[in-house]
Amino acid sequence: MIHTIILKQRPVGKPTLSDFEFIKEDTDLNIEIGEILLEATYISVDPYLRGRMSDAKSYVPPFELGKPITSGIIAKVIASKNDKFNEGDFVSGMLDWKTQQISKGEGLLKVDKDRAPLSAYLGILGMTGLTAYCGLTQIGKPKAGETLVVSGAAGAVGSVVGQIGKILGLYVVGIAGTDEKVEMLTSKFGFDHAINYNTTDDMKAALRTACPDGVDVYFDNVGGPISDAVLYNINKFARMIICGAISVYNNTEAPMSVSVQPFLVKNSALMQGFIVSNYMDKFPEAMKQLSGWLAEGKLTYTETVVEGFENTPQAFLDLFEGKNEGKMIVKA
Ligand SMILES: NC(=O)c1ccc[n+]([C@@H]2O[C@H](COP(=O)([O-])OP(=O)(O)OC[C@H]3O[C@@H](n4cnc5c(N)ncnc54)[C@H](OP(=O)(O)O)[C@@H]3O)[C@@H](O)[C@H]2O)c1
Repeated sequence: MIHTIILKQRPVGKPTLSDFEFIKEDTDLNIEIGEILLEATYISVDPYLRGRMSDAKSYVPPFELGKPITSGIIAKVIASKNDKFNEGDFVSGMLDWKTQQISKGEGLLKVDKDRAPLSAYLGILGMTGLTAYCGLTQIGKPKAGETLVVSGAAGAVGSVVGQIGKILGLYVVGIAGTDEKVEMLTSKFGFDHAINYNTTDDMKAALRTACPDGVDVYFDNVGGPISDAVLYNINKFARMIICGAISVYNNTEAPMSVSVQPFLVKNSALMQGFIVSNYMDKFPEAMKQLSGWLAEGKLTYTETVVEGFENTPQAFLDLFEGKNEGKMIVKA
């Protein structure tokens, strides 16, 4: 039996389970020469998928209604008629939300389960680790002794950003949504200080206290009022790395924000958005650094692993409720 999850309708506001449909097909998939048969092992659910569920113009085309959702997936090759892949290999790539599927192998990378746990190739050694490394180093240009603030700090990208900041000698402050996450940021990930935005009435003041020397680098995963509060605390020549804005992804109306221009002018500050794929030429260097730091024990990670392919949509919805610590992954 092959299970597929398709986009049934475009979400309005916060997505719900009714936006997805499950299809079961009682068929065997037969491969032709040049093809491989894949079985999903781990599925990545990511906030950016929300953007692809809308039909607004963006940097990637929207998902088509009635077609499977695609995301980063680790899959096992269970049959091969392609010279580049053997039965038993594990691969990583953008694949459909299907328990089994046929591929020609294009765009797939083999992953070595003896080098790192397979799920790590969706997180710290995958897209989110690369995002953290490239965004921080290429736009943030961090210098030892500076102050780095990270929002969405206990998530897949944020937890890696903060740790890289510490490795590079920065003073690091994280912002997250629960006391457990805040505790994890300082105890497990070595942040110097962490703030629970859900229990803090005055984020501007809390940041001022947490960052006595002001903010030199801000890695923004959430946008909205949290990022507005950071603006009031930036230093001259601050760099603000706009990685994501999860707090407004489900908005149905244009979000109200403070006007950034006076802050940028007054502080000669930089604010730059990016897409991780802008930095493909840096991926080999990033992978070398990330896997090296991981092997040396300088970098660690956490994952929230949801069991069962059928729970993939719910795991995606849970990202917007902050139910994950570190990378949210589904074990198919
Ligand atoms: N530019 C790129 O190329 C690129 C690549 C990857 C990811 N991203 C972006 O980076 C951000 C983080 O992605 P990720 O994969 O690491 O996800 P993640 O942080 O692991 O998961 C999402 C987290 O966002 C927080 N959140 C949810 N709603 C929020 C709200 N209204 N206000 C503040 N925080 C909220 C939750 O944590 P709390 O409990 O702390 O609220 C949740 O755990 C996202 O915005 C994503 O779109 C961008």
